Amino acid sequence: MPSAPIAIPRSSQERAVAPSTSPSISSPQLGVKVLHPVESVDLRLLLLENISQEAVATFRAQGFHVDHHAKAMSEAELIEILPSYHAIGIRSKTKITARVIKAATKLLVIGCFCIGTNQVDLPAAAQAGIPVFNSPFSNSRSVAELVMGEVVALSRQLFERSYELRQGVWNKQSKGCWEVRGKTLGIVGYGHIGSQLSVLAEAFGMRVIFYDVLNIMAIGSARQVDSLGTLLSDADFVTLHVPELPETINMISTNELSLMKSGSYLINNSRGKVVDIPALVDALKSRHLAGAAIDVFPAEPGSNGAPFDDQLNAWASVLRALPNVILTPHIGGSTEEAQRLIGQEVSQALTRYLDYGSTIGAVNFPEVDLRALTSEQGNHIRVCHVHKNQPGVLRQVNEVLSPYNVEKQFSDSKGEVAYLMADIADVSLEDISKLRELISRTSANILTRFLA
Ligand SMILES: NC(=O)c1ccc[n+]([C@@H]2O[C@H](COP(=O)([O-])OP(=O)(O)OC[C@H]3O[C@@H](n4cnc5c(N)ncnc54)[C@H](O)[C@@H]3O)[C@@H](O)[C@H]2O)c1
Repeated sequence: MPSAPIAIPRSSQERAVAPSTSPSISSPQLGVKVLHPVESVDLRLLLLENISQEAVATFRAQGFHVDHHAKAMSEAELIEILPSYHAIGIRSKTKITARVIKAATKLLVIGCFCIGTNQVDLPAAAQAGIPVFNSPFSNSRSVAELVMGEVVALSRQLFERSYELRQGVWNKQSKGCWEVRGKTLGIVGYGHIGSQLSVLAEAFGMRVIFYDVLNIMAIGSARQVDSLGTLLSDADFVTLHVPELPETINMISTNELSLMKSGSYLINNSRGKVVDIPALVDALKSRHLAGAAIDVFPAEPGSNGAPFDDQLNAWASVLRALPNVILTPHIGGSTEEAQRLIGQEVSQALTRYLDYGSTIGAVNFPEVDLRALTSEQGNHIRVCHVHKNQPGVLRQVNEVLSPYNVEKQFSDSKGEVAYLMADIADVSLEDISKLRELISRTSANILTRFLA
């Protein structure tokens, strides 16, 4: 992709804040030079799928032109409209295919305002010099809170009692109902969600143990155990917070369920394939387990209102009929707070890339950043050079930069794509067009941008 034509930079007065290179765009730092691309007069952003108004406001406050639509767009619509935009924000319904990327000749960056990124052809985007950002951890707290709710609901058979009363049946009982205070919560996977949950569970007076493939510093009085088997045999509640990996598929099956304490509970808010559900059904039917809460399934309906039946998962009707089983439609991370956080996080990542070149957090790109320029470095420019990952490129580019003082530079590669950032002193606007021409002509060039 050729570099974009030079144009007059936007006024720095348009900027509400002056961020450092990598930290939050919304936290101004004194003495930091505000950068913006010299390539584009007016950066145009297309936001689809009703992305939060906070994100729209963040972009507008940064001086970007924003077009906001409530719906997703088809491939054909994107091919028609996207060539006039520099950035796009989507959720999970808009598919950014290789054809869309090929047509979007001005596109610099893609923001997925959600957790997943498989709606984007990530290799095609990287090869076109387009980093893709998402927000994988904004909903950790929401999941942790839901799990605590499920721990209490299972141990009090809350869903059974509520269902009975809705049917007009009064059934007050204490048999098989327990406080959670003093019980043991076993957390499998002590990452973003598992560790948040650890804090909440201790506040409830629970004893917390966890198992993780990594050695992790425990929070509070939690204790790491050395094997999954130890955790399963010691916990009253087992909750799963691991990613889906070849080694975590069916990590809870007949053997593992048999290791769990009689009368204990299983909670899965991680990924659907982590639990062998027919084995779980057997453990619940035999009353070895006293209950389960399942938020994620091996196959999930594509839209709201679609059936959750045996055609989708062969065991669905059996599972639905079991007592003290909480079934929820993958809502672990679905809260308004999480949506707001996603909006803030992804819009800041896009702005940091467009204005400062930082690719920290990109899913398909080498992660590169540079220390911020200071306001005294008025005539410094930043070169952002995306190129094919092949030998000899740095020599060629450094030869072009050799008449100048390169104050700092950093480069990294991922797969077929590499990214170099460099801050250069004493460069005039005329120098920039000469530099652009020379760097863009190098054989491995994918995209070269200048920030000043
Ligand atoms: N239900 C929902 O709506 C929802 C929302 C957000 C995340 N999730 C899912 O929750 C899971 C956890 O998310 P997170 O943000 O805490 O992830 P994370 O990457 O922060 O933590 C995962 C932890 O699991 C550990 N781990 C990996 N393989 C393991 C194994 N074989 N045995 C034990 N530990 C192992 C890792 O070392 C890591 O500490 C993910 O699968 C994610 O997709 C679900």
